[in-house]
Amino acid sequence: MAKLWAGRASGETARAADDFNSSIRFDSRMFREDIRGSMAHAMMLGAQGIIPRTEADAIIAELETILGELEAGTLRVDPEAEDIHMFVEQVLTERLGDAGRRLHTARSRNDQVALDLRMYLRGECDAISALLRELTETLCTLAEEHKSVILPGYTHLQRAQPITFGHHLLAYAMMLLRDLDRLADCRKRINVSPIGCCALAGTSFPIDRRMEAEALGFAGVARNSLDGVSDRDFCVELLADLSLVMAHLSRLSEELILWSSWEFRFVELPEAYTTGSSIMPQKKNPDMAELCRGKTGRVYGDLIGLLTVLKGLPLAYNKDLQEDKEAVFDACDTVRACLGIMTPMLGGMKVRADKMLQAAQEGFINATDLADYLVEKGLPFRSAYKVSGALVAECARRGCVLETLPLEAYQAASELIGADVYEAVSLANCVARRTSLGGTGAGSVEAQIAYVREKISNK
Ligand code: ARG
Repeated sequence: MAKLWAGRASGETARAADDFNSSIRFDSRMFREDIRGSMAHAMMLGAQGIIPRTEADAIIAELETILGELEAGTLRVDPEAEDIHMFVEQVLTERLGDAGRRLHTARSRNDQVALDLRMYLRGECDAISALLRELTETLCTLAEEHKSVILPGYTHLQRAQPITFGHHLLAYAMMLLRDLDRLADCRKRINVSPIGCCALAGTSFPIDRRMEAEALGFAGVARNSLDGVSDRDFCVELLADLSLVMAHLSRLSEELILWSSWEFRFVELPEAYTTGSSIMPQKKNPDMAELCRGKTGRVYGDLIGLLTVLKGLPLAYNKDLQEDKEAVFDACDTVRACLGIMTPMLGGMKVRADKMLQAAQEGFINATDLADYLVEKGLPFRSAYKVSGALVAECARRGCVLETLPLEAYQAASELIGADVYEAVSLANCVARRTSLGGTGAGSVEAQIAYVREKISNK
């Protein structure tokens, strides 16, 4: 295909150079944005009298047809094309002749590609946010069902204090709320139109950038044409936000993997989201959770890769910037795939409340509550801590737990202790009493669910 940019250059490039230069393999997914962008551009050029209105109308109508054909698959993207912008313009020109040749007035591929990418990523932000809301809602449903299920809370992966499973799940819901906030904020900076910055310096044609931006749903326009064509901060921001989404999914995945192991058995992942082993017939492997954990590395890689591309890049457009797309597309695809798996996997997960309670009964995780009981009886916390520690040691010697240690043993350690100590160390009470804001008690869990639901309904 003759090159549209054959001007000073002959356009006779080496086959290897064409292949190396081409981005059609990955940028053709922006065909809708490219065509919609060109329609708005033609509309603006016509409205401003830069090209004849009749030609603008013809361009718009033909672009609509091309879009329909691409959607229907009756027109296929030419894999030999240099990029999606060239492909669409080429088809248009083949069909319309000179009118098609006028479309690229007061525009460059430099502002065009930035426009397409911003439109595409705006859509990705919305799609990923919808998936995040679904996962958050699934966490709320599970938390509601299991708001009174007791399990050990861990620090250093050592049993620490009793918590409710609902409370634990809601910790993830809070992370996802922040992810949603970050994406909404990032979207504001994505939603700024670069079109009309042209190659780098703006144009002498009487364009109306605001008209074109508005037609495409942008909230504002880039205020410096050099920045408009070379800014990829919005891609980096999105990658950073998606990296955090993955960090959260990865931590959740790790817990699911741990909890579904024989050592814990706190949950059973649904058969539909686990795999068998080709050699060990007894196995049910948490591959999906492991893949979510593993794919986190890809998304971090996308972030660091793009940051490195941008480092030291002079103004304005440089072809290095073509490397932005594979990074952001890969990250968006990866996050979408992981969220698409995580939500139904969690939804179908079986929660073993019996195993959780059993583990909670084993690690003296009510020792802090015993100390708190002594504080209520008047002992300073440090002294109470010591007495509680000694009683835990006594239990270990006897092979019992604080709930079953005889009252005489308690009273031998401190005369402040009465029969009401058993209420103080009962796991159900330990959990129910933690009513402080954000605490693990059922009331607090209910308040958290209401908070999360209210937040996601407003996003
Ligand atoms: N495919 C290119 C990219 O992705 C489009 C912009 C090309 N601009 C240029 N001056 N060669 O960045």
